[in-house]
Amino acid sequence: MNLSNRVNSVQSSPIRRLVPYADKARAAGKKVYPLNIGQPDIHTPPAFFEAIKGFQKEVLAYEGSQGNPELIDALRKYYETYGIHYAPEDIIVTNGGSEALMFAFMALCDPGDVVLTPEPFYTNYTGFASAINVKVNGLTTKAEDGFHLPGKEEIAAKICDKTRAFVFSNPGNPTGVVYTPEELKVLVDVCIEKDIFIIADEVYREFIYDNMPYASMASFKEAEDRVVIIDSVSKRYSACGARIGSIASKNKEFMSAIMRLCQSRLCVATVEQIGAVELYKTPVSYFNEVNEEYKKRRDVVYNALQKMDGVVCKEPKGAFYVAVKFPVDDAEKFIIWMLEEFEYEGQTLMMAPLEGFYATPGLGKDEARIAYILKSEELEKAMVVLEHALKAYPGRK
Ligand SMILES: Cc1ncc(COP(=O)(O)O)c(C=O)c1O
Repeated sequence: MNLSNRVNSVQSSPIRRLVPYADKARAAGKKVYPLNIGQPDIHTPPAFFEAIKGFQKEVLAYEGSQGNPELIDALRKYYETYGIHYAPEDIIVTNGGSEALMFAFMALCDPGDVVLTPEPFYTNYTGFASAINVKVNGLTTKAEDGFHLPGKEEIAAKICDKTRAFVFSNPGNPTGVVYTPEELKVLVDVCIEKDIFIIADEVYREFIYDNMPYASMASFKEAEDRVVIIDSVSKRYSACGARIGSIASKNKEFMSAIMRLCQSRLCVATVEQIGAVELYKTPVSYFNEVNEEYKKRRDVVYNALQKMDGVVCKEPKGAFYVAVKFPVDDAEKFIIWMLEEFEYEGQTLMMAPLEGFYATPGLGKDEARIAYILKSEELEKAMVVLEHALKAYPGRK
């Protein structure tokens, strides 16, 4: 008996696959700082839990495949605050941003087709793509350039006749880049010229620091028939376990294809959608407070990294990650070594190795992603541990 070649080609997630090493380290009595995963510790707005407690029906029925109409309405109002006008039929609720991405790839690509993405990119794009025999091509971006996009010609040269879509997260995971409205305009022009879709993964839309200007891809009128917006409550409202995301587009043919896929999976969890309605009513002041907190955390991590010998990184401007180049032979080996063999005052830490965040072979071997999702005091301690680990690591370059 064999499994499919397709499923055998799906990599295990570099964000999660080192967890057993961390579990062992914890079982051995070490304190492990989990900087590998974007699981925020910020409290979920209580209105979510109150709405769920208020669910009094006698039957927990299926919701419609498009999603709870109140949630769609709440999403429309949320988009209005960004000057984005969606009709109810332009939005479908999904099982997290993950399902929205997966369905977008399925709707746009046949086996053998390609999606292009700036690398390093959110590693699960590869997981979604390889599960359906779609290839991810990387448009390499570098810390030296702040992980910004290359010029028009370079982007255009990467689009081949198999390329169906340009997919990217803005703000960027794992780089923390916030693309300027000007470079997004260049991207829009190239995608129109090459006649491909744009999948804009904007799940970190609110996480922007230092007053960086931000433009949603949905604000480019000239591209509205080819833009697909991916969203989620996971990071926005620190509600990762709710598994509520959404997909939005003004392209009716595309949305009708997504709806057919959604009908076959029936619906998204009924009760969590009721909670999510309240999340999308959260006042903007919530984001101001949360961003203040993340900015503090970013500063702790970035300032500490800058002082470490041989470490290269760029100050992240959005999301809550920093992509770091370390003076080591192999970042994954370094992380495993930290978990298995190293401790500083009973503590160690976990990061996500970045090689799996690249499509181009050979890139990212000495890089890792740090998610600054713990309190500043914890992050300060974690950075001291990291500095000592770098000095003690036998594979240091
Ligand atoms: C860029 C990006 N897109 C999508 C997702 C998936 O989010 P969700 O929890 O909504 O499935 C994540 C999760 O980390 C992410 O970082």
